[in-house]
Amino acid sequence: MDLGLTGKVAIITGGTQGIGKATAERLAAEGAKVVIVARGQPRLDAVAAGIRAAGGAVHTVSADVAQPGEAQRIVAEALKAFGGIDIVINNAGTSATGAFESVTDSAWQADFDLKLFAAVRLVREAIPHIRQRGGGRIVNVTNIGAKQPGARTMPTTVTRAAGQAMTKALSKEYAPDNILVNSVCIGLVRAGQHETKAAAAGVDLETHYATIGKTVPLGRVGRAEEAASVITFLVSDMASFVTGSSINIDGGASAVF
Ligand SMILES: NC(=O)c1ccc[n+]([C@@H]2O[C@H](COP(=O)([O-])OP(=O)(O)OC[C@H]3O[C@@H](n4cnc5c(N)ncnc54)[C@H](OP(=O)(O)O)[C@@H]3O)[C@@H](O)[C@H]2O)c1
Repeated sequence: MDLGLTGKVAIITGGTQGIGKATAERLAAEGAKVVIVARGQPRLDAVAAGIRAAGGAVHTVSADVAQPGEAQRIVAEALKAFGGIDIVINNAGTSATGAFESVTDSAWQADFDLKLFAAVRLVREAIPHIRQRGGGRIVNVTNIGAKQPGARTMPTTVTRAAGQAMTKALSKEYAPDNILVNSVCIGLVRAGQHETKAAAAGVDLETHYATIGKTVPLGRVGRAEEAASVITFLVSDMASFVTGSSINIDGGASAVF
């Protein structure tokens, strides 16, 4: 099935591990030209080599998206490499949760910088170029906690709720430009952050996944490719009448839609 992605240029932040990597690989396989962004150059090189070996087009940008100014450079590099921008996927992020009284101002600020301001800045820089192409897609990757915040889930749930509000507001503001904006809310998906957590706890990775998978109605942790499939759908021609929506990718874990 042709998803209409051939030749489209997609920026994917956090494109070297987990959901971002799987999405970059999937979009490249569908014919998109992908710009992957992360801080670590060795992983950028490894993921790019894999995409090129499979016949895909990829450009890497080593950047910390939480830093002001980097969005401008990411967009400039995408334009230089591929001549335009059609799709932005704001995916870079990591879990940040703690007891409320233990979360310092700097931890709050760091979470907003990484999960909200990075997306604000990248979208603001990219929109004029997406508009020039006659429209495009933006997907914000957030967390099911955005809609259902629990105890000891801040700052993540608050920054993710802001991301959800931004998604809806952008969808209204840019619908006249044919720029469709949606979000996905992730539950538990196999990815780098779980590998780090399991290693820090000295627990075997599969044991860690089996334990946390018991909390999921479908009985397991999701695969990054399963999240990438939904994101690919949202940026494809198949989702041409979908904007301002949010899809849970969580095996049924969330109590809310
Ligand atoms: N996996 C889950 O269970 C889960 C659950 C809820 C929400 N999510 C959300 O889904 C998204 C993807 O998560 P994941 O688990 O697939 O991620 P992951 O495997 O931990 O990978 C994170 C990616 O983001 C990049 N990154 C992190 N901080 C960055 C920064 N400041 N600037 C640029 N790149 C940065 C990392 O590369 P570098 O370290 O080299 O920069 C890496 O490519 C995140 O926003 C995460 O919060 C995931």
